[in-house]
Amino acid sequence: MSARHFLSLMDFSPQELSGLIRRAIELKDLRRRGVLFEPLKSRVLGMIFEKASTRTRLSFEAGMIQLGGQAIFLSPRDTQLGRGEPIGDTAIVMSSMLDVVMIRTYAHSNLTEFAAHSSVPVINGLSDDLHPCQLLADMQTFEEARGSIKGKTVAWVGDGNNMCNTYLEAAVQFDFQLRIACPEGYEPKAEFLKAAGDRVRIVRDPKEAVAGAHLVSTDVWTSMGQEEESAKRLKLFAPYQVNRALLDAADPSVIFLHCLPAHRGEEISEDLLDDSRSLAWQQAENRLHAQKALMEMLVAPGCRPA
Ligand code: CP
Ligand code: NVA
Repeated sequence: MSARHFLSLMDFSPQELSGLIRRAIELKDLRRRGVLFEPLKSRVLGMIFEKASTRTRLSFEAGMIQLGGQAIFLSPRDTQLGRGEPIGDTAIVMSSMLDVVMIRTYAHSNLTEFAAHSSVPVINGLSDDLHPCQLLADMQTFEEARGSIKGKTVAWVGDGNNMCNTYLEAAVQFDFQLRIACPEGYEPKAEFLKAAGDRVRIVRDPKEAVAGAHLVSTDVWTSMGQEEESAKRLKLFAPYQVNRALLDAADPSVIFLHCLPAHRGEEISEDLLDDSRSLAWQQAENRLHAQKALMEMLVAPGCRPA
């Protein structure tokens, strides 16, 4: 199948990714100025959600509507996917009727299998391994606040989960240094670590990771699908909470990002989202703009306002 997919940040070149971020900032400005821009008129996005979502669903659905198209929400509970219809068969049928498909799933192989049978672009809306759309918004937020992230130091504190894996890919594609502070046994996946090479360093002490960092980020300690491990994780990750005192160890220009949803009192202190260094709300909004740029690129490339 010849369609272009976005399953990982590695599917695009560094130049394409920077272009997307620039375009997201332009689309944000168009919306702020109330300019109607509908390059995806009569185009349809299908969204399969096997896991819960607030931001991803809203931003894709609202984004598609703003670009002039429509979005259809599908859950495995109401489709034949949930009753065992093969992913490949589903992909052939769905892509014959839709212009682009977004999938939030468990195993990353579900995405690659769907994409292998899809004649239209497939977007990863989060898998157990990766959350590339979130990183587009994160990189946009840094760019807006502080300019280029190239050569800067980023600290990831907490679980080596799907977000952490994606930060490893971002370190390669956006060219920054990444320090990860996590408990032993909760490192990111070896394949992503290996691909990041000398751009990444794993430490055990959050202070060591954050020292002098320009961006600090974290995420929930228990990701979707790991609920049974929650009690054990709460104890184990307690020393990895990001709070104001920890941010004080970073560079004075540091910004804090959290993909949300946040668990106050766990991975962040109760007050952290109110700290002026936190740009988590701007980051959440940027999901909308970044994914509009992504859908424009995948579905209607070259279609820009005069
Ligand atoms: N950050 C993020 O993907 O949020 P949702 O789970 O609400 O979509
Ligand atoms: N790591 C989290 C991210 C949620 C947006 C999860 O996978 O549940």
